Amino acid sequence: MARVQRTIWSFRSLYRGCCVVLLCCFSATFAVAQKPLKTLLVDVDHRAATSLDGDWHYLVDSTGRNLYSATGEVRDNGYARNERPVLVGERNGSQEYDFSTAPTLKVPGDWNTQDPTLFRYEGVLWYQRDFTYQPKPDMRTFLHIGAANYRSYVWINQKRICEHEGGFTPFDCEVTGVLHSGNNFVVIAVDSTRLADGIPGLITDWYNYGGLTRDVSLVDVPMAFVDDFDVHLKPGTMDSLAGYIHVEDATEGTPVTIRVPEADLVATVKTDASGRANFNLSAKKLDLWSPESPKLYKVQIEAGQDRLTDDIGFRDIRVDGTRILLNGKPVFLRGVNAHAEAPYRTGRVSNDKDVEAIFGFLKEMNANFVRLCHYPQDERMTRMADRKGVMVWSEIPIWQHISYDKPSVYAKADAMLHEMVRRDRDKASVILWSVANETPDNSTRTEFLKNLVVETHKLDSTRLVTAAILQPDNPGKTKKLTDPLAQALDVVGVNEYVGWYSYVPEEVDDIGFELPQKPIIISEFGAEAKAGNHGPKVQRWSEEFQLDFYRHNFAMLSKIPQIRGYAPWVLMDFRSPTRNIPVLQDGFNRKGLISEDGKRKQAFFLLQQIYKDGTYGKAE
Ligand code: GCU
Repeated sequence: MARVQRTIWSFRSLYRGCCVVLLCCFSATFAVAQKPLKTLLVDVDHRAATSLDGDWHYLVDSTGRNLYSATGEVRDNGYARNERPVLVGERNGSQEYDFSTAPTLKVPGDWNTQDPTLFRYEGVLWYQRDFTYQPKPDMRTFLHIGAANYRSYVWINQKRICEHEGGFTPFDCEVTGVLHSGNNFVVIAVDSTRLADGIPGLITDWYNYGGLTRDVSLVDVPMAFVDDFDVHLKPGTMDSLAGYIHVEDATEGTPVTIRVPEADLVATVKTDASGRANFNLSAKKLDLWSPESPKLYKVQIEAGQDRLTDDIGFRDIRVDGTRILLNGKPVFLRGVNAHAEAPYRTGRVSNDKDVEAIFGFLKEMNANFVRLCHYPQDERMTRMADRKGVMVWSEIPIWQHISYDKPSVYAKADAMLHEMVRRDRDKASVILWSVANETPDNSTRTEFLKNLVVETHKLDSTRLVTAAILQPDNPGKTKKLTDPLAQALDVVGVNEYVGWYSYVPEEVDDIGFELPQKPIIISEFGAEAKAGNHGPKVQRWSEEFQLDFYRHNFAMLSKIPQIRGYAPWVLMDFRSPTRNIPVLQDGFNRKGLISEDGKRKQAFFLLQQIYKDGTYGKAE
């Protein structure tokens, strides 16, 4: 028996051996076929889509062994197969997991605030759900994922269809060829592990919420479809529109029609060999978008079989010396920073209620500008900004230290930049693209970011490019900003914390700044206060201290002639892994003007008044 046993074992291991070899060469072949995601659908919220939001089963894979092989390759034979355990009879290779009886998580949403056992979990978590689908003739289907933090791997019906890196931008995977008529299932492994070569890097001053944090849907499009378009006010005009429409897989000469019915505008142009059709439209009169009148026009695009509509505002934003001009007039940005931390419930912003609450605070504060820090936020935010007339600073998460010396990391930054710009190119409210926040002043970093600035201008010539530079706290009462990155920027963001991280508030009144002769936005300044914590103004973490900080900081900053905007740090208290003073912080950065549960601190009302009166800061 033993000898027979051994022969069987040796046959099994031989068979297994072949399987593994087979699998590797299969996944290798597959991997080779797995080129970076080419298609990125735009204006998805105006396309007919089948939502896959709701309850998804989940399994925690804290070792990651069901996702990555020993050598780090992605495994297709792990949980991706969505098989059932064999309960009776020979095990036959079946594995020990079962999505069908597993608990569920809401999508969209981070997993950390949905299940206390997952609050501090960083690693691989598997999502699975069934869905029925009727593929339509002559149509292609894409799985659209609004965002998933941080790396995600997607299978449909056991076929791996795509993977993506980056926690804050959308991606689309073609599933036309793998869908069944009727029952289907999707399995998505999301790995929120922080990476040294990631963007952001290993350390952030915000909570690393993991999961399918934004909407997931199936989107049908014709064989040739609009995957990118740009309709903007022709620079230097107030009544002409220009731009392009790109039709994926269109044959050259495909007619494309763009209509703006309310402005009585229509033009039909033809695609060139690359699928791009450029157009110019001159209007009799256009109501331009501005915070005072956030006018949006219905825009209709027809390209071959594809039909797309959008709600777009037209405005011109430019720099003139140290001034920022909106529609030709100097503008001052009365703003604040806002993290995508959901008011009242905490966790990632992922629904209309969260967004309405945040914009309610912005309006109550008399703000006309918001810096969406430090990563592209839910598209609901920029859509709402369009409707509410709030100008937006949108940023890719190059936060302090990343691996600037690695071309592979530059490729990730470039991909995130493309995804950010393509998604929000149609948002009039977005006036500034930011490539980074508080990065080390060395030549490797500077070259990395200067290349990104050039790329941003190439991608979008209609907006301004910026970055937030940490004001060096050099000795003496004159703070000089000499960072060479500033030369490459249209608008310079300056983060300064004098009165909090150095000095005390009353010592800053006579501090001066030597800043570039460019439009300056104070992109961060702030102090901590625990809501309801009161005491003498010298007592840090008291509301009185925070109020006093702002009084002195505004007096100090208002002496800088080229300031064209303020963005205090920060609208609301937000979770951070680096804030661990019990009672005063309890895992929250407390520099909010409002607490995480909506309590307005004294400083909030100071800002509200300053922004109402326009006390500090001149547009020219
Ligand atoms: C930095 C940084 C923020 C951080 C803030 C703070 O400047 O950009 O992300 O939260 O300061 O220290 O509170």
